[in-house]
Amino acid sequence: MEAIILVGGFGIRLRPLTLATPKALLPLANVPMLERLVRSLPKRVTKVALAVHHQADAITAHFAAIDCGCEVITVPETEPLGTGGAMRNCREHVTGTALVFNGDIVSSLDIEAMLEQHRATGALGTLALWEVDDPSRYGVAELDGNAIIGFQEKPAAGEERSRLINAGTYLLEPKAFEMIPAGRKVSVEREIFTQLAGAGLHGFPFAGSWIDAGTPESYLAANAMLLEREATAAHPGASVRGNALIAADAEIASSIVGPDTVIGPGVSLDRCVVRRSVLLAGASATGAVIEDCILGPGVVVDSDRSRMVLAAEGELRF
Ligand code: GTP
Repeated sequence: MEAIILVGGFGIRLRPLTLATPKALLPLANVPMLERLVRSLPKRVTKVALAVHHQADAITAHFAAIDCGCEVITVPETEPLGTGGAMRNCREHVTGTALVFNGDIVSSLDIEAMLEQHRATGALGTLALWEVDDPSRYGVAELDGNAIIGFQEKPAAGEERSRLINAGTYLLEPKAFEMIPAGRKVSVEREIFTQLAGAGLHGFPFAGSWIDAGTPESYLAANAMLLEREATAAHPGASVRGNALIAADAEIASSIVGPDTVIGPGVSLDRCVVRRSVLLAGASATGAVIEDCILGPGVVVDSDRSRMVLAAEGELRF
C-alpha cells in the first residue's frame, strides 16, 4: 500500500520558525514531526510519497539520510497545488487504495481499524473524524451511520451541522483521485469532499488523542501530549518538575526544567527556570525564566546581558 503525505504548505502560522525549517521537520519531542509520522505507519505501507513545495530540498535531504523502513520519495510542485492538487500530483505513485495525511497531525488514530471499515463499506473515500467543542475553524462532517451526507469547510459559527471535524487523514480509492482536476490548484476539502458527500464518502470517528500542530499553541500542546509517554526522568544540572524531555547532550547548570518542557540537542541553560516550553537545537539561555515559549534553533536568551544593554540605553530603571 502507498501513502501520500502533504507537506508542501508554507506553515505561515508557525513563522518565524518555518522561515528556516519546513514545518514538517520541526521536532515534536525531539523527533521531526514528519519522520515520526513516517516511522509510525503500518507495515503494509511500503512506499511513501511526500508532496512537497516550500523548502522541498530540506525535506528530501532529511529522508535521504535516514532509513524509515519503507521507500520514501518526494514529489515536488512548481507552484503550490493546494491539498487536492498535491494529492493528484502523486497519482502515478498510487496503485490502489491510498492512505493520505496532512503532515502536521499527531493522533492515536488506528489506521488498520479505519482500513477495515473502509473495505467493509466499499467507500470511495473515508475520512478520519475527531469531535471538538468548536468545529467552526475546521471541515465539518454530517453523518448518517458512517456515510458522510454533508461536508462544510470552515462553516460560519452556528451553522455547523455536527461537531465532527476532518482529522486530516484519508483513505482514497483511485476513482476519488480521478475526480480531482489535474494540473491546477485544488482544495480537496472545498472541491472534492463537498462533491463526494452523499456519493461514497464515509467517516471514521475515533477517540483518544488528536492535535494539529500548526500553530504555536498547538505545537506546544502536541509536544506536551507526547511527553506523557516520552518524558525522561533526570539530567545532570537540572531539577526536573513533571514531564520533561532533555536531549542527552544538553548542557544544564542550576536550572529548573518542566513541566511539559522539551530541551533539544545542544541547548545550554545556566540558572534558568523553563516551564511549558520547547527549546530547539542549540538555543541557550542564562538567568532567564522561560514560560509558554518556543525558542528557535540557536536563539540566545541572555537576561544578564539584556539587563546590561537596557541599563546602558537608559531603558531599565532599578
Ligand atoms: P499555514 O500556512 O500556517 O496555514 O500552514 P500550512 O501551509 O501547512 O497549511 P495547512 O496547515 O492548512 O495545510 C495542511 C497540510 O497540507 C499541511 O501538511 C501542509 O503542508 C499541506 N499543504 C497545504 N497546501 C499545500 C500545497 O499547496 N501543496 C502541498 N504539497 N501540501 C500542502
